[in-house]
Amino acid sequence: MTNTTLTTSIPPSREEAIELTRNFLPTMSTTPTFGITGATGQLGRKVIASLSGRVAQQQIAAIVRDPAKATDLGVAARQGDYADRQGLEKAFAGLDSLLLISSSSLGTRQAEHENVIRAAQRAGVRRIVYTSLLHADRWGIAFAEDHLATERWLQSSGLDFTILRNGWYWENHTAGLAQALEHGGLVGGAGEARISWASRQDYANAAVAVLTQPDHAGKTYELAGDTAHSLQELAAETARQSGREFGYRNLQEAEHAAFLASVGLPPPLAAVLAEIDCRGIAKGVLAGQDRTLSALIGRPTTSLPTAVAAALNQ
Ligand SMILES: NC(=O)c1ccc[n+]([C@@H]2O[C@H](COP(=O)([O-])OP(=O)(O)OC[C@H]3O[C@@H](n4cnc5c(N)ncnc54)[C@H](OP(=O)(O)O)[C@@H]3O)[C@@H](O)[C@H]2O)c1
Repeated sequence: MTNTTLTTSIPPSREEAIELTRNFLPTMSTTPTFGITGATGQLGRKVIASLSGRVAQQQIAAIVRDPAKATDLGVAARQGDYADRQGLEKAFAGLDSLLLISSSSLGTRQAEHENVIRAAQRAGVRRIVYTSLLHADRWGIAFAEDHLATERWLQSSGLDFTILRNGWYWENHTAGLAQALEHGGLVGGAGEARISWASRQDYANAAVAVLTQPDHAGKTYELAGDTAHSLQELAAETARQSGREFGYRNLQEAEHAAFLASVGLPPPLAAVLAEIDCRGIAKGVLAGQDRTLSALIGRPTTSLPTAVAAALNQ
């Protein structure tokens, strides 16, 4: 493969892409060079699948807390719990780049993320890419503070870092659409705020782009869908596609927390989710300002009609 191949406009085959990556990425050993945490989660699985199309599977290590859940990933799994700094250090041995997918444990994740960063430093990892939160500095609630603290640790870590401030997944709202149709509508607390949703696959592709391309060190990217919509618009599109009556009902924070608890969420989690909607999203912090996400992935982000159709036709 020669350099001139890079100038062709024909997309390379998977084999050619792997060969190109072998030739142009700085780290060419046969040991894993990319570590993906949270690899058995919904975002992590998509990252592993996309990255496997870009680099040799032998160059990828899935960092997982339960290797039994990782047998179908197609890459080597290493056990690493965010709560166990020493275990993480072992799991990170030999890695060049690490994608830190933020923990889903809302109460403990600041300490967990610090463990990951300190372990990576000790293991000699060169670079961390971190999945943060869109406009993390504008939310003003504890949910966002976890991400800001992690960003600060990264910035002072001495490691190369890239911060991916991910916006909302479509799936947060569309995964329950079919069920919501049975109840006639969506319920939430974000009012008429605009949200620039994108799909998990969009964010996974962005992470893979940043992991496999040069020139992203030291950057913080606000990642969001190309077009912002309200929850009312999501409900209207659902009504249009389903041919059924479907609306959006907005609740005040206490009412919203009580509703979420009434459908089975533990009350502390219900309270946090209501706060996220009513004191965060309602302020408009999930509306994107630019098209950095689509620029990174080289295509438009997943649109409202596509997201609704995917949810209704599952
Ligand atoms: N932008 C958004 O709209 C949005 C929405 C929801 C969540 N998030 C954030 O983005 C992250 C990824 O999203 P997702 O949809 O992939 O969430 P997810 O499916 O819940 O995956 C979370 C991953 O974190 C792993 N994890 C949790 N605690 C851990 C620990 N102590 N040690 C090691 N791994 C641990 C889980 O491991 P197991 O597989 O073993 O459970 C799982 O792989 C979430 O964790 C959350 O921080 C963002």
